[in-house]
Amino acid sequence: MTHHIKIRHDGAVLEIVFARPEKKNALSNAMYRSAIEALDSAHRDATVRVVLLSAEGDAFTAGNDLADFASAASGTGEALQAPHFIAVLARTEKPIVAAVPGLAVGIGTTLLLHCDLVYLSDTARLSTPFVNLALVPEAASSLLLPARIGYLRAFALFALGEGLSAAEAVALGLANKVLPKEELLGAARETAHALAARPLGSLIATKRLMRDGERILAQIDRENASFKERLQTPEAREAFTAFAERRQPDFTKLKS
Ligand code: COA
Repeated sequence: MTHHIKIRHDGAVLEIVFARPEKKNALSNAMYRSAIEALDSAHRDATVRVVLLSAEGDAFTAGNDLADFASAASGTGEALQAPHFIAVLARTEKPIVAAVPGLAVGIGTTLLLHCDLVYLSDTARLSTPFVNLALVPEAASSLLLPARIGYLRAFALFALGEGLSAAEAVALGLANKVLPKEELLGAARETAHALAARPLGSLIATKRLMRDGERILAQIDRENASFKERLQTPEAREAFTAFAERRQPDFTKLKS
């Protein structure tokens, strides 16, 4: 268990809180492991009826910890835990609500595609800059994002790394509503409790009908294979080194 993930039981709602604000809640392998454990316990515990994802500080998450990417790329670190986390999230049958207080980068945005209700603060910004890091989309976002917002918009988000404001995200169907930051968590908790009062069997059956679980998991596998290959490339090494050295990467002289 890492202290960078906090778990709160509030009646029938299990809240999983990203709590590493000094690093913009960048998700480390240890954090994914704790979040997986919490989702597993939500699955097993009949008293839990809804999961709420939230975050401390001014960011939701700056995405995967880039130091973990770099050590996985150089073969010095452990295998990345993000794919396991996403697979568990994708398999979660109980409803998931997300409260996004600020920046949601990479997996911070793609995990929202596995949530059932998404609330954003007016300071939230969603981005998926996988290509800037010489990587590929993950979390089945290469399937789910174009399906949600169309190919061209999804490609621009992946390839150009431009962000979406909270209002744009709602307009595109990536979130339910925008709230002032100070009202965000209260509103998300209220809705989570309202969902918890609904018949759970019906909610689970509705999710199953609305999501093609097998296709999503198959796409996650395809993405993971490509992601692993990309991690080993000189392009990815340059991207991670540039982030660590706080400079812009230069991909122009590298072989693809
Ligand atoms: N992995 C590891 N550390 C991260 C991180 C990440 N993904 N994102 C931010 N951090 C760390 C920074 O290194 C910094 O640490 P330090 O204070 O020890 O130097 C701290 O969090 C604060 O980040 P900083 O960059 O100073 O904040 P900012 O407000 O200027 O910028 C971001 C915030 C999110 C725009 C910027 O940190 C960023 O671009 N991060 C990388 C995002 C990314 O590419 N994620 C992966 C997507 S697949």
